[in-house]
Amino acid sequence: MIKTDLSLASEYLPPLGPWLERAARALDAIPSYDYTGWLHLPTRTDAALPNEIEAAAARIRADSRVLLVIGIGGSYLGARAARDLLCPALGGGGTELLFAGNGLSGQAAAELLAYLRGRDFSINVISKSGSTTEPAAAFRVFYELLREKYGDRAPERVYATTDGEKGALLGMAKERGFTRFVIPSDVGGRYSVLTPVGLLPMAAAGIDVRAMLAGARAAELEYLRKTELNPVLHYAAARQALYAGGKKVEVLGCWEPRFRFLAEWWKQLFGESEGKEGKGLFPSSLELTADLHSMGQYMQQGERLMLETMLTAASDAAPAVPYWEGDPEGLNYLAGKRLDEINRVALMATAQAHAEGGVPVLRLEMPAVTAASVGNLFYFFELSCAVSAILSGVCPFDQPGVENYKQKMFALLGKPVKK
Ligand code: PA5
Repeated sequence: MIKTDLSLASEYLPPLGPWLERAARALDAIPSYDYTGWLHLPTRTDAALPNEIEAAAARIRADSRVLLVIGIGGSYLGARAARDLLCPALGGGGTELLFAGNGLSGQAAAELLAYLRGRDFSINVISKSGSTTEPAAAFRVFYELLREKYGDRAPERVYATTDGEKGALLGMAKERGFTRFVIPSDVGGRYSVLTPVGLLPMAAAGIDVRAMLAGARAAELEYLRKTELNPVLHYAAARQALYAGGKKVEVLGCWEPRFRFLAEWWKQLFGESEGKEGKGLFPSSLELTADLHSMGQYMQQGERLMLETMLTAASDAAPAVPYWEGDPEGLNYLAGKRLDEINRVALMATAQAHAEGGVPVLRLEMPAVTAASVGNLFYFFELSCAVSAILSGVCPFDQPGVENYKQKMFALLGKPVKK
């Protein structure tokens, strides 16, 4: 269970009671919207799905050194966040997850092509619509390499995750005989991490997807209850109360590098859900303590626009600072202290300093990072985001603004207009 601590925001918050009541009403209102299939996804996931995912993942691990995950936005950020959180950053062995189709960089694609040429690989192409330019272009590029390497057997190495009923990718997958996984039609991209969109690449990387779903199930059962201590209601109510009080930016501060893509996933979730009708906290993130040495000055004394949400996890074993004879750089006062203990002191100091400097700090604490606790965290943020967006009066599940750049790009690229 995620724990919230609002004490370092208390002097900036109004009495929270009315906001909590409104948050509870927003929670009740979620099912009245479209695209809410994610709400009961953990408890309603078909029992056969983990078997199918694990079987496909076992095939990928048996024949591929790399699984290339092609997708953008909600179609890749969750898997990347989970991979970074749960797999060793260095020398983990096993099947490596690499990502493409999340931009249009020719240089990145060329490097990946060169890297994959000498390695066995499979592709998981993920697109709900099947027509998003970035992943569609990347799929063509990397599918050609599959064909070059494996000839007629190339389709056996393609896993397509897409809508179950419509879209260009679905048609192609059926025609060419790719292995198919379905994104439920009532689940939008940014709420899809606990569907095959996230689960297949996670399983291929060796993550225990059953444990992840179990953690998400526990979250669903816990956080849908309108109890006084429900952390979802507290987090959503506090961020909206601070927004109403004039804060414009929410900075997610994470204390381990492995949280970087969790923050990217979180930014998409909140940015696309709340940023509309001229409203919404701008979601941004810091990697601490590293960013204290680049953004710390602004956080302490710059424009007072921000609230800060500090996300921490119960810490794992970590090395201690060694004792050095002669104390050449004056560090012996820390000798014997573990790095994670020092990190936690830095967190407390930073949180207090920022709160005193005009930045309300909301604290979120998760248990140690495991597949189950990450599943719980994904669901916690999805539900918090939906409640928060409804509190601010916008629909959390559409993204009308994303279409604007696409239409302009299609026009400039000369895409034929369908008659
Ligand atoms: O949240 C969303 O719906 C978007 O970010 C999509 O995930 C993203 O645009 C990719 O779309 P698609 O899966 O249709 O290629």
